[in-house]
Amino acid sequence: MDQIIVTGNGPLSGQIPIAGAKNACLTLMPATLLSEEPLTLTNAPRLSDISTMSDLLQSLGAEVAALQDGQVLAMSSHTISNHNAHYDIVRKMRASILVLGPMLARDGYAEVSLPGGCAIGARPVDLHLRAFEAMGADLDLRDGYVHAKAPGGLKGAVVDFPFVSVGATENTLMAATLAKGTTEIRNAAREPEIVDLAECLRKMGAQIEGEGTGTITVQGVDRLGGATHPVVTDRIELGTYMLAPAICGGEVELLGGRKALVGAFCDKLDEAGIDVIETTAGLRVRRRADHVSAVDVTTEPFPGFPTDLQAQMMALLCTADGVSVLEEKIFENRFMHAPELIRMGARIDVQGGTATVTGVPKLRGAPVMATDLRASVSLILAGLAAEGDTVVSRVYHLDRGYERVVAKLRGVGAKIERVKDQ
Ligand code: EPZ
Repeated sequence: MDQIIVTGNGPLSGQIPIAGAKNACLTLMPATLLSEEPLTLTNAPRLSDISTMSDLLQSLGAEVAALQDGQVLAMSSHTISNHNAHYDIVRKMRASILVLGPMLARDGYAEVSLPGGCAIGARPVDLHLRAFEAMGADLDLRDGYVHAKAPGGLKGAVVDFPFVSVGATENTLMAATLAKGTTEIRNAAREPEIVDLAECLRKMGAQIEGEGTGTITVQGVDRLGGATHPVVTDRIELGTYMLAPAICGGEVELLGGRKALVGAFCDKLDEAGIDVIETTAGLRVRRRADHVSAVDVTTEPFPGFPTDLQAQMMALLCTADGVSVLEEKIFENRFMHAPELIRMGARIDVQGGTATVTGVPKLRGAPVMATDLRASVSLILAGLAAEGDTVVSRVYHLDRGYERVVAKLRGVGAKIERVKDQ
């Protein structure tokens, strides 16, 4: 397994291009199962999770061609020749559950392995299943699989989620496009990835209103056509790299960034003493003084502070002036980066879903271990400004969600390299 070695190297300057959103691409790709016509995605990110989704779709009989070095995904599923999403693939990536809605809507049956939990939590899919039951599907959970049937097709229904779920909203939205009648999704997720999915489905002929608000209304149609659609910019990659100049000093421009994608995050950065200026090319970020101020953070569904930026924000706050309190409200175990940051000299006290960070003047490089995707990049951010070398192992976590991270950070002056594990 490879390692990444980061050495504190002073202020950064230059530009970092931001890729298409992993979490948009992972829901746009299964949408190809809804139509016999080709669906082509441009601005696709080159990530291992995208390859996993390609493998899954191909196992179901879809064609997926990665063109232009993987930035274009040309897909089509004239027929779905296999309706069983196997555990061997699903266990690698929870987003695999997003093939369930499209297969059920298109052909009236599907067998999808339950994804199982992951490092950050149990991550059940009960909301997805309740939505399909409300739409008339018969679900049978056995042998670790969901066996779903809707022989007469899905029916439009009111789906009222007890709490916000991005994946359940996406799965229900896709299924509703081919259901008979009208579906109203209440307490829907409002993330930009949901809006991007709705825009793509509309290009395919779906009749959708209200995406980006808490209520999405879908008028089912008999069939969907093809489309070509650009994947929206990755707001989590964007927020991650915005923190690099915040931690190291200097000024970096994030190409393709827009404030609308990271509104609450920018507000927090401003409170901590970091300027974010919107330019024609993207977002320019620099900190106003030598040290940032402590701030309190609570993660919430969009448009609140994203849980996927909590670990990265903690890396910044380790050397802030004062005490910061971070509350993780979305997942039950998303502070695994804290013990690793403590190895670098951070002062962090974790009590349940709350982490209290007392700023220290500087972190010290150390050997650390990546535990999940966003934790891995928070350790790299911390290493950018630490004294000495930080050696991050298990960087395969990183490859799931960050393309070319060494090249992108080197491009703005970071001292970082990737080595084969000794
Ligand atoms: C999506 O996961 C993202 N993944 C996650 O990003 C992100 O952290 C999360 O949304 C929240 O924004 C993708 O889009 C592929 P949820 P998802 O359903 O859809 C609970 C990353 O780092 N829940 O909004 O799985 C769940 O356990 C990843 O890129 C149920 O209880 O998240 C969690 O506590 C990590 N039952 C909360 O709801 C359900 O049926 C929010 O989960 C569904 C979810």
